[in-house]
Amino acid sequence: MNDGKRIPWVVGVSGASGTPYAASVLRGLLAAGESVDLVVSRASRLTLLDETGIAFRDAHWRDDLTAWLARGADGKPDTFEVPVDDVRYWAAGDLAAGPSSGSYPVKGMLIVPASTACVAGVALGLSKDLLQRVASVTLKERRRLVIAVRETPLSGQTLKHLVALDEAGAVVLPASPAFYAGATHIQDLVDFVAGRVLDAAEVPHKLYRRWEGELGGSRGA
Ligand SMILES: Cc1cc2nc3c(=O)[nH]c(=O)nc-3n(C[C@H](O)[C@H](O)[C@H](O)COP(=O)(O)O)c2cc1C
Repeated sequence: MNDGKRIPWVVGVSGASGTPYAASVLRGLLAAGESVDLVVSRASRLTLLDETGIAFRDAHWRDDLTAWLARGADGKPDTFEVPVDDVRYWAAGDLAAGPSSGSYPVKGMLIVPASTACVAGVALGLSKDLLQRVASVTLKERRRLVIAVRETPLSGQTLKHLVALDEAGAVVLPASPAFYAGATHIQDLVDFVAGRVLDAAEVPHKLYRRWEGELGGSRGA
């Protein structure tokens, strides 16, 4: 059905800790030549401010996004250079936005990080804002929905919501870094999670070193 038209991935950033995961996923998608439609929840502005010092503004989203994506997980500015030309931004309160309809062409949606409130809202189909509405649309259209939940410990309620999402066809992907890939920096741990999100979306990347069946292989032993 792709007759040369732009068909983006929707990236939803909700208010769980873990904005570096979102930045890494966004960099990975853009590096792979994918188009991105971005939705940033109201609560995630607080986590973004807390974790990066960046006050994300609807009216200046391109500047704020550029600064965010340039920042390393260790807090260093200008670590990455990421053109954001192929990003389209939709305000979280804009329920008339393109991706709020199933007829708007998208490949699917990646929610990174996903708060437990977001998990609950999507599991119950609340559509309380654009992010949750797009997630509901993604499920009803049987498109790929990846939910990188970040919370610990998990309540029984959240576990039930996650099972409901799994049964509805979503990929539940805990933001849970692994240590077999030879991480030496915080960015490596972040990129591992982001890489697993891109794996679930079948987007090629080189964000982490894959397991090759050899114990200690990541240490060069
Ligand atoms: C600094 C900070 C960190 C937070 N971290 C988490 C978290 O890791 N996981 C989570 O589920 N909620 C976390 N929250 C709470 C969510 O932001 C809150 O539940 C919010 O309502 C989520 O809304 P949203 O899903 O619309 O973005 C955090 C809040 C703040 C201010």
